[in-house]
Amino acid sequence: MAQINPSILSADFARLAEEARRVEGSDGVAGADWLHVDVMDNHFVPNLTLGPPVVESLRRATDIPLDCHLMIEEPDRWAPGYVEAGAGSVTFHAEAAAAPVRLAREIRAKGARASMALKPATPIEPYEDLLPELDMLLVMTVEPGFGGQAFLDIMLPKIRRTRQLIDKHGLEMWLQVDGGVSASTIERCAEAGADVFVAGSAVYGAEDPAAAVRALRRQAEE
Ligand code: DX5
Ligand code: ZN
Repeated sequence: MAQINPSILSADFARLAEEARRVEGSDGVAGADWLHVDVMDNHFVPNLTLGPPVVESLRRATDIPLDCHLMIEEPDRWAPGYVEAGAGSVTFHAEAAAAPVRLAREIRAKGARASMALKPATPIEPYEDLLPELDMLLVMTVEPGFGGQAFLDIMLPKIRRTRQLIDKHGLEMWLQVDGGVSASTIERCAEAGADVFVAGSAVYGAEDPAAAVRALRRQAEE
């Protein structure tokens, strides 16, 4: 089952509650599976977005579970606070975590799904033995920092290799892709083995964001 996670990075930050509602399902029609919340600290990436207080308010504003993607330094120190703020899934970056196993266990112990992200130049292979500690692996398909960038085709082999490792170990974990995912790239990602798709501009740039979510899910499941 493909999951579609709209990224609020491409939404209007002054109207986040309303923007979340635009991708919720209604009358039995499935909407977004998760709301993807991009947290940036101006150090790990050259952009600054939001922190725990906004996550807490969003949590109250929508029934869609929150998928927090932490593009920050020192996730070991800050990630647990995002679980406390209401995130259902917390993704930290492999490049920034000092003790990824300990951090993943702490996130899980606090009651959220633990996930780790890899920037485009970070290989999956050194992390093979960590996979059982994670509920999701995020393969970035752009350099993190901004929405609306072009999908990096050269990441498809990494998605494929990650899927092979997940299957080899018989794991139930999810494989997420983030960056440049749209109607013209989602099928390639799905074919390579991704099953959770973050889409910012492809959803919030559309006339009808909820319809865009449904169309992307259909395409990913074809
Ligand atoms: C990029 C963020 C993405 C971004 C995706 O650093 O992690 O989640 O919002 O936006 P699009 O889908 O427009 O590439
Ligand atoms: Zn993201």
